[in-house]
Amino acid sequence: MLDVRGLRKVYEGSGRRTEAVRDLTFTVAAGELVCLVGPSGCGKTTLLKCVGGLLEPTAGEVFLAGRKVDGPPPGMAFVFQEYGRSLFPWMRVGQNVELPLKQKDLSRSRRRELVADALASVGLADAAGAYPWQLSGGMQQRVAIARALAYEPEVLLMDEPFAAVDAQTRADLEDLVRRLWRERGITVLFVTHDIDEAVYLGERVIVLSASPTVVREQLKVDLPDERDQLTTRVAPRFAELRTHVYEQIQAAKRGAGPVRKDTPPPR
Ligand SMILES: Nc1ncnc2c1ncn2[C@@H]1O[C@H](COP(=O)(O)OP(=O)(O)OP(=O)(O)O)[C@@H](O)[C@H]1O
Ligand SMILES: [Mg+2]
Repeated sequence: MLDVRGLRKVYEGSGRRTEAVRDLTFTVAAGELVCLVGPSGCGKTTLLKCVGGLLEPTAGEVFLAGRKVDGPPPGMAFVFQEYGRSLFPWMRVGQNVELPLKQKDLSRSRRRELVADALASVGLADAAGAYPWQLSGGMQQRVAIARALAYEPEVLLMDEPFAAVDAQTRADLEDLVRRLWRERGITVLFVTHDIDEAVYLGERVIVLSASPTVVREQLKVDLPDERDQLTTRVAPRFAELRTHVYEQIQAAKRGAGPVRKDTPPPR
């Protein structure tokens, strides 16, 4: 579904030159939930923006279902890192969720239906008439998720969507993402700097190096499909996987060369 080949991004301007992403190659299969994890500032947002066609790569290409991405493609939706800046404060929740649908050729009643359905999916059926600033942070982030869902994307890109909410809300939202992913069969690329979150959510974890970024390792998460916050997080296998990813990230921060292993760590 997603094919990222030799992606490189160098920012230039104002006398500064930053090589954020050096050389990234990976694929995501249709219907897969893949987590990208890497140290802070390693270029995760840059990578997602290139994948979503919001930034032009310096080199390399991204393909969505075989078509080259050279602008925001119709089948993709984005949930940004800062929910506070991603909703329009002068529009009600329902209008925020409906906005991207206006680009699609849909009847008004179908739009209404999609908005109501998406808000119900994230447990906010009653909030359509509220303004975003009347809601808590966690609720605002659920609105952003509903907006992405209503659009019925093939691919959902999520950039540290829960970094700014409290731990309890975060756990609920993680379960929400897994439930929606399983129900709707969408392809999800989820970026986080949180190792436990990556292992808890993903079917596969791609570990990135420090900037300039390359893929350090790809890891299959061989935990059962049924996950829950209590039992999964105390499972011995969960501990093994998170320890392994943690060691990889520490090594990445020290600048050790990448090891490309595409197999799970030994049991
Ligand atoms: N618009 C920009 N212009 C110039 N440099 C940029 C720009 N955006 C990001 N950078 C630089 O690119 C590098 C990667 O930034 P990016 O935001 O992609 O990292 P990140 O992994 O998402 O960070 P965080 O974990 O803090 O979200 C950083 O060195 C940053 O300073
Ligand atoms: Mg970022």
